[in-house]
Amino acid sequence: MSAFDTATTASSAGQQWNAQDYAIDAGFVPTLGGAVARLLDARAGERILDLGCGDGVLTTELALSGAHMQGVDASPEMVIAARARGVDAKVMDGHALAFDRAFDAVFSNAALHWMPDPDRVLEGVRRALRPGGRFVAEFGGHGNVATITAAVQAARVAHGHGASAFQWYFPTADAYADRLRQHGFQVQLIECLPRPTALPTGVAGWLRVFAAPLLDDLPAEARATVRDAATALLADLPRNAAGQPLADYVRLRVLARRR
Ligand code: BEZ
Repeated sequence: MSAFDTATTASSAGQQWNAQDYAIDAGFVPTLGGAVARLLDARAGERILDLGCGDGVLTTELALSGAHMQGVDASPEMVIAARARGVDAKVMDGHALAFDRAFDAVFSNAALHWMPDPDRVLEGVRRALRPGGRFVAEFGGHGNVATITAAVQAARVAHGHGASAFQWYFPTADAYADRLRQHGFQVQLIECLPRPTALPTGVAGWLRVFAAPLLDDLPAEARATVRDAATALLADLPRNAAGQPLADYVRLRVLARRR
């Protein structure tokens, strides 16, 4: 039995991750990390922390620069997958980063919205950086996946379950810039960009891999019913030329320096 056959494991926001499902339904996540990777501009010999490294696909690409990459992720399942790719990865909660002036840069792609206490995260990021070190991140910005979330909530209500109280952390650029400054960062770039994102395994695949926190208070049968109902509500999403539905992703992209 491989590590991937083991049961899924709890991590941030109660989300359960399964590396195999992730690779199939969410393989686009590291692929679309190119813009933030270019913003990082990793250099040979730099020490870089990949916060929320997931299965390590993007971490290994960043390592091609010659930078020394350290991955951390709250999910043991994802850390096993990252190590299998050769990434030096540790299980660590992003709210409790245990590093002191150890890195030239902290990088994060599509992970910070899973961490509900941004102050604890930024405190740890700041501590992990050497003075002058950079924090380069991309994650969900205000309004991210609002159409999908609304459909899941509507489906819950239609089936008599009431709306879920769960929310991902999707701040505005202004709110996040203020928070960065409060934590001693100089903000060099912050932008919030709509990025319609094609879902290769459709809405059903997206809900299967990502929507657990909106559904995990329900019994398994009700979860499946709500997922099916939300998928039906989203049947008319715009589609790309290949017929894949486009999710209403909004990216918040950040480059900030530790003062
Ligand atoms: C995101 O990458 O924006 C995202 C992924 C899953 C759930 C919520 C947001």
